[in-house]
Amino acid sequence: MSKDLKKIVVAIDGPAGAGKSTVSKALAKDLGLSYLDTGAMYRSLALKAQRLGLVGADEEGVASLMSTTSITFGTGDPQPVFLDGEEVTADIRTAEVSEFASAISAHSSVRRALVARQQDLVATGGVILEGRDATTVIAPNADLKIYLTASLEERARRRRIEFEQKGETGDFETVRQQIENRDHRDITRNDSPLRVAEDAVIVESGGVPVDQVIARIKELL
Ligand code: DC
Repeated sequence: MSKDLKKIVVAIDGPAGAGKSTVSKALAKDLGLSYLDTGAMYRSLALKAQRLGLVGADEEGVASLMSTTSITFGTGDPQPVFLDGEEVTADIRTAEVSEFASAISAHSSVRRALVARQQDLVATGGVILEGRDATTVIAPNADLKIYLTASLEERARRRRIEFEQKGETGDFETVRQQIENRDHRDITRNDSPLRVAEDAVIVESGGVPVDQVIARIKELL
């Protein structure tokens, strides 16, 4: 790989359950680049707020926490996440934290604080970043912007399998409804709604093996 490729920034956007994490992680590993899971940052802040007894609607309270919060990543799969030095890798993946993270991600001041932190992390390059404003807000000048997508049914099916693997239950209809609600919230929110960036390439992940999705993205690179 040329030196330039080692400095590239690839931004991967898309709706819940489209396979952003799986694809981003695999691509980062394949290319020897770092992987930035921006959703884990919302989740970590949500966990901290929740532990402190804040409510999701407390925009200023949650946003102001960021100035005294450290969120860092280790290496490994799953990628270890540290909140103020404490490993919270599993704690940030519960359904409760997912809901809280979704609620706080609708607040502009929370987003501003997190986006600033994310842009610092991306500035040096050599990053595959993932998140639903990765291509539109965090890294609009990324070398490659991908909008990964799959049908609602396929995304719900994957989420359900993920829940089962964690020992959580959820019948298909409930999971499907949760994803549909999240889509609606993400698409209609005022600040940084989920949308396809103008020069993003739409990549379909439904029914396509991960290695083929990776091959397609590498081709685009
Ligand atoms: O991708 P995820 O499920 O881990 O994200 C957790 C929540 O944070 C989800 O509700 C979407 C939100 N999020 C966001 O608004 N912007 C990002 N860049 C990443 C995640």
